[in-house]
Amino acid sequence: MIILAIDTSCDETSVAVCEGRKILSNKIYSQILIHKKWGGVVPNLAKRAHEERIDMVIEEAVMRSKRDSSELGIRDHRRLLLAQTSTHFRNLFDLSMKQIDYIAVTYGPGLAPALEVGINKAKELAKKYHKKLIAINHLEGHIYSCFAQNNRGNPKREYNFPYLALVVSGGHTELILFHDHLKYEVIGETIDDAAGEALDKAAKLLGLGYPGGAVIERLAKTGDFKYHNFPRPMSRTHDLNFSFSGLKTSFYYHLQKMSINDKAHNLNNLAASYQEAVFESIIKKIKLAIERVKINRLVVGGGVIANVYLRNKIRNLARAYNGDVIFPTSKSLYGDNAAMIGVAANYKAEKGIYVKNVADLERMPRLKIAD
Ligand code: KG4
Ligand code: ZN
Repeated sequence: MIILAIDTSCDETSVAVCEGRKILSNKIYSQILIHKKWGGVVPNLAKRAHEERIDMVIEEAVMRSKRDSSELGIRDHRRLLLAQTSTHFRNLFDLSMKQIDYIAVTYGPGLAPALEVGINKAKELAKKYHKKLIAINHLEGHIYSCFAQNNRGNPKREYNFPYLALVVSGGHTELILFHDHLKYEVIGETIDDAAGEALDKAAKLLGLGYPGGAVIERLAKTGDFKYHNFPRPMSRTHDLNFSFSGLKTSFYYHLQKMSINDKAHNLNNLAASYQEAVFESIIKKIKLAIERVKINRLVVGGGVIANVYLRNKIRNLARAYNGDVIFPTSKSLYGDNAAMIGVAANYKAEKGIYVKNVADLERMPRLKIAD
């Protein structure tokens, strides 16, 4: 089963081709440089950038998924761009589309204007090439990213349900019971900011630019995580929800009390102790969840998982409960990407779940995972 998947939920234009859970190609065009100077994602700029690039990204993903792309003499991006205008290329593209069985697209949650671009393009392709359309929740994509395989079918992980799933990204912090394929139950979520957002906001207050998670990680490596004891949000409540906005406020007031010099000298310590507060509150909730639901097999996805320190903390926690944890196997699967949408769509295709009337599919910016 070959699936062409599209994700334009936020600031990455991504298109992938998957065969079952094997990734044949996964193209990701990040818009970070466009949004950086605004200190965050600007929805209408994201929409325009998706519109400008989507056709090119689709063509690249489709042509690169073919094992015989040498036929076109395409070895680098520039040559592909030149080739795209030729009739020969168009014919080959149309021929390649014949190999595709389904078109899959993220329909929520995400930024409404951004989601719309991917959905419209998916509808157009489904109509033009007579394919069935599969609608995927972005969060189920992040969960299934843990089971994606390379084009040789590695790693050969078998499913061993149920899992406790965690999605930690710039937009989401969710604890989900992953009962079986496509069966989810949200047991905890953030009541305000997401974990990645908390890191991004702190980085902004420190003047480190956007997005800030990776910069905070780099600084924190040489900092003292005990430098300041920032509050661990929601640590005293017994539910499984997260909250990070109080922590960010406390960080803001702490910085207000420091001189510029003091801040400059303690940048690493500030990053380390703030990061520790964010991660410790995540760890606390996973621990609570493991004890409550008695599941010690974790799957964890989302952009914040790029953080090595957090991955180690989660791994150690799972080990302490004689369990294990599955992370996506490649960096390109942590953040937003379309391959994870293709992998999730594979299970919908197997069950015969697709959009019966293509024109009816609408963006759902606040879509919940159990919907
Ligand atoms: O999954 P993602 O690419 O987009 C959303 O769906 O939100 O996640 C982006 C988030 C940002 O908040 C970014 O700061 C964070 O992931 N991030 C990191 C690291 N790299 C990216 N957070 C911590 N450590 C990192 N190395
Ligand atoms: Zn995401």
